[in-house]
Amino acid sequence: MERDAGRLSALRSGRTPFYEPGLDEQVAESVARGRLSFTDDCRVGMRDAEFAFLAANTPVDESGRADLSHFWQAAADLAHAVSGQRPIVVVKSTVPVGTSQALGDFLRRQSGDGQRWCVVANPEFLTEGNALRALRECDRIVIGSDDHWALTEVASLYAPLQTPLVATDFATAEMVKYGSNAFLATKISFINELAHLCEQTGADVQTVALRMGLDPRIGLAFLRPGAGFGGSCLPKHTRALARMARDEGLELSIVEAAVEANRRQRRAVVHRLREALGPLDGRCIALWGLAFKPNTSDIREAPALDVIEMLLAEGAEVRAYDPQAMDPMRKRHPNVSYAQDALTAVEGADALVLLTEWEEFRLADLAEVRRCLRGDLVFDGRFMWEKEDVEEAGLRYMTIAGWSQREAGAGARRLADSAVQAERLLRAA
Ligand code: UGA
Repeated sequence: MERDAGRLSALRSGRTPFYEPGLDEQVAESVARGRLSFTDDCRVGMRDAEFAFLAANTPVDESGRADLSHFWQAAADLAHAVSGQRPIVVVKSTVPVGTSQALGDFLRRQSGDGQRWCVVANPEFLTEGNALRALRECDRIVIGSDDHWALTEVASLYAPLQTPLVATDFATAEMVKYGSNAFLATKISFINELAHLCEQTGADVQTVALRMGLDPRIGLAFLRPGAGFGGSCLPKHTRALARMARDEGLELSIVEAAVEANRRQRRAVVHRLREALGPLDGRCIALWGLAFKPNTSDIREAPALDVIEMLLAEGAEVRAYDPQAMDPMRKRHPNVSYAQDALTAVEGADALVLLTEWEEFRLADLAEVRRCLRGDLVFDGRFMWEKEDVEEAGLRYMTIAGWSQREAGAGARRLADSAVQAERLLRAA
């Protein structure tokens, strides 16, 4: 079911409205084989359906609460479109805890015949940029319902994936989703904050993260420091979870702190540039990477959005390049100039700022970058390059935080002083 006419016709010809590796080919193949079809007519979509997946977008409003208007609209359309045999309704959208339970009553009221609907909460754990692989190799499937038969039916759909499956109640299934994303976001903010302390004390945050992560209780994943987390999920779900707690009279202070640390991290990018270049007014900044992560065209809540806004507000000129995300960014920031390739973006710029770790950037010829740049500053917002490689190319390497780029901080100075004092006392003794 797709309501937007443009998207619908694109989907019918096998094109998805965003870039996701392999997905267009998969969709086109499934359409060609008659296994997948698209419609804007809910009655056609629901004809003989045994399952109906609700995957409507659930953005958050100003206060951080999930806005369920698309979700309830889709549910109402579904209830009105079904005649005869009722499908099991599977909730894929990320919805506040309690929504799937409420959906059964909502559908009954909408269909108006008093008959029961079977609902199963089935949160999604896919990651963008490698969604197909993530689907085939996913580590768990979580389903929740008050109906045992419906749980068994949905479990049977996933049987071919041979993935561990957890069946539970509605609220628990819904909370697993929020808890997982909030925990991942917290891990990222934790390492980002630690990176600043590493810098002040002369520790190398990447080695710290690596050695910490070798402890299986901590794990290596999501300990990559950088410009902060973006996307349509982590930022939104952390805020929604914190809001959900506030609405219950509770405070998830750790989650709220993770959200705040993420905001600071974006400001830190521009702060660092100002430190290195002085006032940014009139400076030309080349920006590599607009998508919130590599292998996607998605710019929702991408660090680049905030960084561009701050740079423009300070009077800088921004020259941007991204392998896939320039069209969506052009709509948001028409005042930025968009280069046709990575090196053109750098031509004559005072500094290069990297915000998304696309493979293309990892493999970039740094000597060429040196030749094209007017200045010599490379700001690596994702710890993607080796400092030595960048310096070898005659460039100045800088990142958000990580190791002693400047004089040791006050704490380190205090410790050094006390060591000198101790030495003096020992000599005197
Ligand atoms: C996230 C979750 O990882 C998925 O499990 C979940 O299914 C999905 O949200 C969702 O709710 O639908 P996704 O938004 O695709 O997936 O992206 P992530 O891979 O989680 O990355 C999110 C952000 O964190 C990116 O901006 C990335 O650059 C950043 N990140 C990630 C770091 O800064 N450091 C890391 O170590 C990992």
